[in-house]
Order: sequence, then structure tokens, then C-alpha cells
Amino acid sequence: MHKIYFILRNGEKQEITAETGESLMTIAQQNGLDVEGACGGAMACSTCHMIVDPAWYGKLPPPSEDETDMLDLAPGLTRTSRLGCQIIVTDEISGLTVKLPQSTKSLI
Ligand code: FES
Repeated sequence: MHKIYFILRNGEKQEITAETGESLMTIAQQNGLDVEGACGGAMACSTCHMIVDPAWYGKLPPPSEDETDMLDLAPGLTRTSRLGCQIIVTDEISGLTVKLPQSTKSLI
């Protein structure tokens, strides 16, 4: 089991326990966080946009071209933005902190 920390839109920090292999989008939804995930993880909506703590960003496998293209359309894009459906919990990112952007926009 791993701990992942989410900074919510109101600034609160929420700790979520997750298993290896789960996506950040899935664990956020399972724990009642406001993450829409309209396309179900198909990299087609950008509503799972999350901002990775800069200290952790380099520990993630780099985004695919499809993910980067989708992120380019996400409101509030930052240098450490990722799609939550594409971040998979592993030992390497146990303890990761991500922040939910102030708004998302569904592109489907
Ligand atoms: S859930 Fe749609 S892009 Fe991640």
C-alpha cells in the first residue's frame, strides 16, 4: 500500500491509500474527490488534469505524445501538469503529492 497526497481546490491536503497499479484518477474518484474523468481514462477529455508537486515530477515516467497533446488543451496548464488517468501508482511514486487544478474542461 502507498500513500498519495492530494491538495484539494480549497487548499486542504487529503491522504489517500492506494495499491500498486491503480491510476490517480481512479483512487481520487474512489475516495470522493472532485475528479470527473469523463472519458474513463482514454486521454480524450482532460478532466483528470492534476498538477504534480515539482519535487516529484521527475520521478514519473514521461508523458506520451497523446497525453501532452491533450494537456495542451487543459485550462490552467503548468510545467508539471499530467493527466491523472495516466499516472499509475508504483513504489517509485509512493508519497507523491498532486494538486487539483481550479477548473477543468471536458473536451468530449
Ligand atoms: S480521464 Fe479523460 S483524459 Fe484522463
